[in-house]
Amino acid sequence: MHPVQLILKKRNGEKHTPAEIRFLIQELTAGRLENYQLAAWLMAVWFRGMDYEETDVLTQAMIESGDQVDLSSIDGVKVDKHSTGGVGDGTTLVIAPIVAAAGGRVAKMSGRGLGHTGGTLDKLESIPGMRVDLTQQQFLDQVRQIGLAIISQTGKLVPADGQMYALRDVTGTVDSIPLIAASVMSKKIACGADAIVLDVKFGHGAFMKSLDDARKLAETMVAIGRLRDRQVRAALTSMEEPLGNQIGNALEVDEALRILRGERKGTALETVAYELSSHLLCMSHPGLSLETARVQVQQLVDSGQALDKLGQLLEAQGGDRRICEEPERLPQAQQKIGFNSPSDGFVGSIAAETIGTAAMWLGAGRRTKSDSIDPAVGIVLHVEKGRPVKKGERMATLHVNDQTHLAAAEKLLSHAFLIQAEKPEAQPLIREMIGV
Ligand code: URA
Repeated sequence: MHPVQLILKKRNGEKHTPAEIRFLIQELTAGRLENYQLAAWLMAVWFRGMDYEETDVLTQAMIESGDQVDLSSIDGVKVDKHSTGGVGDGTTLVIAPIVAAAGGRVAKMSGRGLGHTGGTLDKLESIPGMRVDLTQQQFLDQVRQIGLAIISQTGKLVPADGQMYALRDVTGTVDSIPLIAASVMSKKIACGADAIVLDVKFGHGAFMKSLDDARKLAETMVAIGRLRDRQVRAALTSMEEPLGNQIGNALEVDEALRILRGERKGTALETVAYELSSHLLCMSHPGLSLETARVQVQQLVDSGQALDKLGQLLEAQGGDRRICEEPERLPQAQQKIGFNSPSDGFVGSIAAETIGTAAMWLGAGRRTKSDSIDPAVGIVLHVEKGRPVKKGERMATLHVNDQTHLAAAEKLLSHAFLIQAEKPEAQPLIREMIGV
C-alpha cells in the first residue's frame, strides 16, 4: 500500500477499505506520512466525503493511535460534554458544576481555542492560580472526591487528531462532516466517558453553516458513540449570534459565574447551559424525566450548590475560589472603549464569527497555535438580536490592553452588527435534539 494510491482512490470518489484507513493512520502516527500527502488526502476527503462505515473505521483507528483513559475505577455514570466550537460559549463552566452538584461524575478533558473560537482551558487559566495539567491519578482522585475535574488533553491521547487537526486548520479542510465526526468522537471515546452530550453548532460562527449539515454531523457522531455502547445526545444550536454576551477568557468566566449566581436569568447562554445540563442529569440518573431534571437544575443554581461546586473545582486545581463571590478579582483590562450604533433601528443580527475574530485581534484568541493570549481582553455586548437601538447608543464595549490591533477590531465590529428597520423574527436557540 502507498499513500499516493489512497489519495488517488479518494480523489476519484472511491470508497476506502478498513485496511487502507488503518494504514494511513498508522503511517501518520509513526511519522512516516509526509504532510503534503496527508494534506492532499484531507482535501480529497473534503470533496468526496466518506460514508458512515469509513468514518467509523477512521474514528477507531484514531482512538487506537494513542492512550485511552480508563474511568472504570470511578463509580457511577461518567459524563462529558463537547461543543463543536462557538463564540462566547462558556457553557462548560456552567454545565460541569451543575451536573457534579447533582451527584454526576464529570471527568472532562478540554482543548484550547484557535482562531475565532474559544477554548475551555484558556478560560480556566484566566483564573488566578488555576492549574489544568493534573496527572491521570490526580484527575481520577479529584473526580472521585468532588465529582468534577477539568484538565488539558495530553498529547498521548489521540495523537493522530493533533497532527491531522493542525494540518486541516491550515489547508481549508476543517469543515468536513466525516473529519469533524472522527476528530470529536475519537477524543470523546478515548477520554472514557459513558454518557456524552454534544453541542453541534450551525450558522455564521460555526463550521457547519446549515442546519441540515449540522444534523448530518450530529447523527453521525451519535451513531459512532452508540456503536461503542456510549449514551450520546446531540443538540443542534444556532451560532448566528455569539452565545454569551461576553467574549474573551476572563470575561466568559465572569459571565458563567454570574449565571451560577442567578444574575443572568433568561439569557441565551443560561438557556442552552441549563438545557444541556438537564440532558446530562437524565443520562447520569436513569429513569429521571427531562421535566424533573430541568426543575433540579434550577434548584441547584438557586440554592448556591452549583456555585459551591465550581468553588470546589477551583480550590482543588489551585484556583482562587474567592472569584465566586468577587468576580472582579478576575483579570481586568486597562481600557474600556465603547462601540455605538450608527443609526436607529432594530438589531437584525450580530455576526458571531466577526465578533470572535475582533476579540482575537484584541488578544483574546490565537491566530496561530503558538500565539499567547491576554486573559483580560475581549468584547462585552450590551444588545442582542431583536433589540431596538438608537443612533449613538452603546452596543458593545471593547476591553483593551494593547492598542496595536484596536483599529482592526473596531473595523470588524462595524461590520458585525446589522441594524434594520424591521424587528427580526425570534427563533429558538436549540433547534433539535438528536438521539433522545
Ligand atoms: N472540534 C474538534 O475537536 N474537531 C474538529 O474537527 C472540529 C471541532
